[in-house]
Amino acid sequence: MSRSGARFITLEGVDGSGKSTQAKALKQALEAEGHDVLLTREPGGSPGAEEIRSLVLEGDPQRWSAETEILLFTAARRDHLERTIQPALEAGKIVICDRYVDSTRVYQGLSRGDLREIVDSLHALMIGREADLTLLFDMDPAMGLARAKARKTREERFEDMGLEMQQAMRKGFLELAEAFPARFAVVDAGREIEEIAETCLSLVRARL
Ligand code: ADP
Ligand code: TYD
Repeated sequence: MSRSGARFITLEGVDGSGKSTQAKALKQALEAEGHDVLLTREPGGSPGAEEIRSLVLEGDPQRWSAETEILLFTAARRDHLERTIQPALEAGKIVICDRYVDSTRVYQGLSRGDLREIVDSLHALMIGREADLTLLFDMDPAMGLARAKARKTREERFEDMGLEMQQAMRKGFLELAEAFPARFAVVDAGREIEEIAETCLSLVRARL
């Protein structure tokens, strides 16, 4: 398979917007076309980063300050990049990553004051890799939150932020998409699963 084109694909959007569902569907569809695909997620995606995941996602919503969270998510991302993402890309795989730095830009960068510059500086210093293509699953956060809540996990620190904050997150994601139009594709995530999957596959095909 060709090694040029978009091989590092990230999926972003508010909680419950269907990222995990579409990530799996996209992996299957690309594999059916003969590609070698790695599906991974953040926070997590490597043993060390999965340990950090439980630190950041479980417990009291006030457990960490936004600044500490930026450090924790970035530490997890560095380990994930070194041990999972880079090796897979070097092996010629397509990497599909369920959330990446745009989530930090939006959740930590906007939720408790404007910390975008800190997120971007630390990213430049410690990560330095953007996705080739970012699919933004855009939908009414009320619908996403209802779907996400139905899952009932212990990882609810961010889902507990409430609807108003999720609205701000949605806006933050859309602003990023506007700022980086070459990298982003906005997908209407309020449709049927199969319809969304077709849109995603054709967006990816066009960039491979
Ligand atoms: P995310 O990873 O963005 O949090 P998920 O893929 O886990 O979202 O989806 C959240 C819930 O909504 C799951 O129970 C999933 O089965 C359901 N779901 C996903 N996509 C759709 C859709 N297009 N229509 C209806 N339900 C959906
Ligand atoms: P995820 O498991 O993808 O949640 P969901 O399936 O509900 O979308 O991510 C867990 C939470 O972590 C989510 O609420 C967003 C948050 N998060 C950040 O705040 N910053 C980050 O950098 C990342 C990657 C996730």
